[in-house]
Amino acid sequence: MAKREIATSASKMLMSRAMLRLLMMSGDPVAQLIARRPDTDPYLIYESIREKGDLVRGNIGAFATCDHELASVILRDSTRFGSFAVAKAKPIDTTVYDDRGERLIVPMDDSFLSMDPPDHTRLRRMVAPWFSPRAIRERTATIENMLDELFDDLAEQDQWDAVNDLAVRVPIRVISAFFGIGEEDYERFRRWGGIIGTSVDGIRTMRDLKTFRQMLIEMQDFFGELIERRRREPGDDLVSFMVQAEPEGEPLTWHDMIATCGVLLGAGFETTVNLIGNCVLTVLDHADIRKQLIDDPDLVPNAVEEVLRWDAPVQYLLRVTTQPVTLAGVDIPEDAPVFVVVGGANRDPKVFGDNAQDFDLHRKNSREHLTFGDGIHLCVGAGLARIEAAATLRVLLRRFPDLRLAEGAERRPTRVVRGMTSLPVRDGAIAAATT
Ligand code: HEM
Repeated sequence: MAKREIATSASKMLMSRAMLRLLMMSGDPVAQLIARRPDTDPYLIYESIREKGDLVRGNIGAFATCDHELASVILRDSTRFGSFAVAKAKPIDTTVYDDRGERLIVPMDDSFLSMDPPDHTRLRRMVAPWFSPRAIRERTATIENMLDELFDDLAEQDQWDAVNDLAVRVPIRVISAFFGIGEEDYERFRRWGGIIGTSVDGIRTMRDLKTFRQMLIEMQDFFGELIERRRREPGDDLVSFMVQAEPEGEPLTWHDMIATCGVLLGAGFETTVNLIGNCVLTVLDHADIRKQLIDDPDLVPNAVEEVLRWDAPVQYLLRVTTQPVTLAGVDIPEDAPVFVVVGGANRDPKVFGDNAQDFDLHRKNSREHLTFGDGIHLCVGAGLARIEAAATLRVLLRRFPDLRLAEGAERRPTRVVRGMTSLPVRDGAIAAATT
């Protein structure tokens, strides 16, 4: 980025932050959604949006819904509510360039996650077999063995962190296996995944923008080299498959390969870390649920599904209208951002009943949550995330039935991604024996 562009972005950032804060204080529902203080309860904001209507308009010209039916309609209608336009709809231009002036690839904006058909279809079809139910089943045993090894280490400690010592370690190993890379690269993958996870909240400061740019440079170099290595010496990993693939008779471009690697890391890491963290927090915070799960581990998949509904690791998604639309009696102009608040839709009493705000292990329709999206962009890694979380919870409760929350838990300061940055836990049995 040139100096003048940095100065312009910086002043726009300050202006838009100040404006959002003012609108928020005036009770604007969309401003409250995207600029709430991280320590406020998002679910109260979603209920206040619900009270104002099924589809509400904020003063910044953006719309929001917490209604389950509307959320699903919007996510399924990729013709009128595009994903492609999302990257263009950002209030601040966060396009970043490398030192030679080439635009850097931004995985969440440049991959099939933000494409419309036919490009979306072509690229998604290429990776889909790697996430088929069979491919995922084959990974389950590996995940459970890996967890047992991890817990052997943790069993030596009186107290450990369920996010940093456990939740981050599971998806990073699973994703690294897709790329055929080993432990030596875990740390940088973890760092990049964390930066991408924070960036989906919106880049709010110049420091964030600089960190983001540096990460993109490093990531692009890393995946670029990996692609070249796999061209020379193919293995049985996803990158080797990509360099040889010819969806619809055409090989993938370098740009598509880098963006696809980046989105798998970006969409698959931080989300799953937070799902696992939210599962551990919920279970340890509800003694009755913990007991039921220990007595009947077959209930673990229900617990994961209900955590996905009740405390989703992704709280809202963005779409942009490609044409004027009238929905639920509200006129939405073309190019308008529409926030689909899945965290709110997941607690819609019309679908989840009067106890929609409660965690219910035996809820029959938890799976109707929209945490993995809906329509053509429905999360390709949903099955994998479910298995990673269920395996972690099952092995955790088997190995540490007396685990308790300890002091010092910290919540992430982000609004889109919801979870913990730190979740200290201790073994209740050891603590009881030593007191
Ligand atoms: C709890 C964990 C996860 C959550 C909550 C989650 C959530 C989502 C959501 C909401 C979308 C749709 C975004 C939109 O419509 O704008 C999505 C798409 C996607 N997710 Fe996930 N995800 C998770 C795990 C994973 C994993 C483990 C992977 C892969 C390793 C993955 C890869 C993707 C990809 C590639 C897309 C783009 C799909 C498309 O556009 O067709 N996700 N995810």
